[in-house]
Amino acid sequence: MANVAVVGAQWGDEGKGKIVDWLSSRADVVVRFQGGHNAGHTLVINGVEYKLSLLPSGVVRQSKLSVIGNGVVFDPWAFIREVNAIKDKGVSVTPENLIVAENVPLILPVHSALDKAREEAKGAGKIGTTGRGIGPAYEDKVARRAIRLCDLTDEAVLVEKVDALLAHHNALFRALGAPEMTPADILDPLREIAPQVLPYAAVVWKQLDELRRAGKRILFEGAQGTMLDIDHGTYPYVTSSNTVAGNAAAGSGMGPRAVGYVLGICKAYTTRVGSGPFPTELKDEIGELIGQKGKEFGVVTGRKRRCGWFDAVMVRQAVKTGGIDGIALTKLDVLDGFDEIKVCVGYRLDGKELDYYPSNAGAQARVEPIYETFEGWKDTTRGARSWAELPAQAVKYVRHIEELIQAPVALLSTSPERDDTILMTDPFAD
Ligand code: IMP
Repeated sequence: MANVAVVGAQWGDEGKGKIVDWLSSRADVVVRFQGGHNAGHTLVINGVEYKLSLLPSGVVRQSKLSVIGNGVVFDPWAFIREVNAIKDKGVSVTPENLIVAENVPLILPVHSALDKAREEAKGAGKIGTTGRGIGPAYEDKVARRAIRLCDLTDEAVLVEKVDALLAHHNALFRALGAPEMTPADILDPLREIAPQVLPYAAVVWKQLDELRRAGKRILFEGAQGTMLDIDHGTYPYVTSSNTVAGNAAAGSGMGPRAVGYVLGICKAYTTRVGSGPFPTELKDEIGELIGQKGKEFGVVTGRKRRCGWFDAVMVRQAVKTGGIDGIALTKLDVLDGFDEIKVCVGYRLDGKELDYYPSNAGAQARVEPIYETFEGWKDTTRGARSWAELPAQAVKYVRHIEELIQAPVALLSTSPERDDTILMTDPFAD
């Protein structure tokens, strides 16, 4: 049985929500393996809108098991808020259909405070984080001082770990001129939330192993995108986890063979939120128009997204570094009506041509895109459900993208509606 991992192939916000929802309707288990409540998915099911940040998309379908894996950073308060919001819409969420790895590291108030204080201190050089404490929580995980969900069951261990954590963080707060925290600032809210979250704690790796052996279909739901990957992205303007599908296994406690098919999601153009290099960015009226037509505002922070042409070099790099088998191309309809459409097919750097995106931050900021220009199409692609319904030029554009990125388009999404999808390859097929 092929399990599927869905990952973003650009800078996040590629339209994963709709695709993940469609795939999760066909999966038995949906697993988040990295990131935290910095992600933002909007799902519309039977006319009801659900906004998810931390919970796996399967949670709105009660018959699925939703899993938060150990690779996630877990904010217990955000978790309970989101669970309650879903319950308020009439969806049953219980430890029977939602489980959280007991070894998941926690995001604490200290982390979002540090995230914000650091960003303020950086001024113009800020990363543009979501301010949710994601980076500081991952730092504590790697530095081996994180409080993990399982620590909430042991008061003595918890008190000791909070003291060690604060010895580190208060030194940072002092340096940043930010207020220090007392153990009670951490322990009191943790003691209060513990009885609400602990029922969801589970030995996730073991349950996933049993489910896999029982032939259940598992969907690994990635957050953010390859260009925000801590290793493969536009470092340091990245998130703090590996967003590539290779992390689906480690981030959930399964072996590498657990992931069968890797579906990368990308838009027919490019967007990015926050700071950092963006070679094909359009700071003109075309960029504005793409943003308006594509409704490019962040789900989590409401920030306006930066917009630009499709960067085939970058997506090809995401295909290679992420082992992407096929692409789901979204928002093609946003390009309807343009006289011409450009695609980046290489970069120019200091007089030389490059067929990849360099790692050095200075070079990343300096590269100039080499464009191929396509004739646009006047008819609409919106709502098309078969190739035959697409304008010839649009088909040409998609086919050329496939060649450039060296991966087939497995799925083409032509509107936010679930059924407005052209399926070429079924990712769950054996
Ligand atoms: P952090 O993940 O909050 O640390 O933010 C680091 C960078 O990743 C910033 O540029 C954010 O805007 C970006 N980012 C984090 N989550 C998402 C997402 O779900 N979509 C798009 N960008 C994101």
